Amino acid sequence: MTAILFALVALAALLWLLWPLRGREEPFPEPPRREDLLAELALLKEEARTLEGEEKKAALARIVRLEKALEGYRPAQARRPSPWALVGALLVLLGTGYGLWRYTLPRLPGETLVTARQEAQALRALADRARRTGSPEDLLAWGRKAWELQAFDQAAEAYLELVKKDPRNAEAIRRVGILLFMSGRAEEAVPFLQIAAHADPQAAEAWLFLGNAYFQLGQNEEAIGAWERYLEVGGEARERVENLIATVRAKAEGGLSGQGVFLSRCAACHGAEAQGGVGPALKGNPLLKSEEAVREIVLKGRGQMPPVPLSEEELQALLAYLKTL
Ligand code: HEC
Repeated sequence: MTAILFALVALAALLWLLWPLRGREEPFPEPPRREDLLAELALLKEEARTLEGEEKKAALARIVRLEKALEGYRPAQARRPSPWALVGALLVLLGTGYGLWRYTLPRLPGETLVTARQEAQALRALADRARRTGSPEDLLAWGRKAWELQAFDQAAEAYLELVKKDPRNAEAIRRVGILLFMSGRAEEAVPFLQIAAHADPQAAEAWLFLGNAYFQLGQNEEAIGAWERYLEVGGEARERVENLIATVRAKAEGGLSGQGVFLSRCAACHGAEAQGGVGPALKGNPLLKSEEAVREIVLKGRGQMPPVPLSEEELQALLAYLKTL
């Protein structure tokens, strides 16, 4: 939005500056050409020499008129552009270029050079302050900012310190758990996440990562339980977590639920309910009546759809499931 406004203003300024440079308007027919006038003048002068009396006077008067006309005659001349207009135009161009570069180039989400620097300064100020005072509020502010900026090492330092100072702080416990999980220490993460999830059951984040940690440890039932709590408290990554649950369930049942295959291999493009997405809706699609056609499409791909390699067993389960749609 800012970029569009900026571009419009810059364009208007540019037009205004360049206006004097535009071609001269010529609303009248061209004046007689200088050469013609000169030729006529020469002729008249010649004649005037041979003429007498009134006629000579008339010819002389005409010569004077012609000479005056020639005097006043200036060949059409382009107005010279004012150097200031050029300097102005150049500045506007530079400004526009800078503006477009500054505001429209793709960057990391929310990042501009200026904000990145300001954020870094803000983070450093919060860190200094928290280290100086060691107060739980300052540690929390530092941890949150670091988390927000994905400066995870600082976030870990801040939240760990906060857990020591205030062992009942659910946010700190949760974030320490998540950071442990993200650094590949799922086993150590679980107790933190358990405590955090029960201390603040509305924090969806804790349930999500608790589920992820369980899943990583191969505790599928517990993982599903945690993810379901995540869905209950309104976590945002609904579709993804539903797919995870379905996939894990399918695996638990021996890997051969057609729905499981569908959710893990097709739903990303065709929608969790086969309602369509990047790919067309499959629900109620007459094509599903032909097993051969579906088999061919799935295994070989078609148009924008890549081939989806499936084992014969998986394919059978999938085809059976598709018929129930
Ligand atoms: C990467 C995305 C993607 C995945 C994954 C995917 N599809 Fe598709 N699918 C598409 C697109 C896009 C089309 C439309 C292809 C075209 O006609 O150009 C399509 C078309 C189809 C069609 C034909 C529908 C019609 O009306 O023409 C069927 C059937 C189908 N997919 C089934 C499946 C099944 C079953 C799976 C899982 C095994 C699957 N697809 C996985 C993207 C995908």
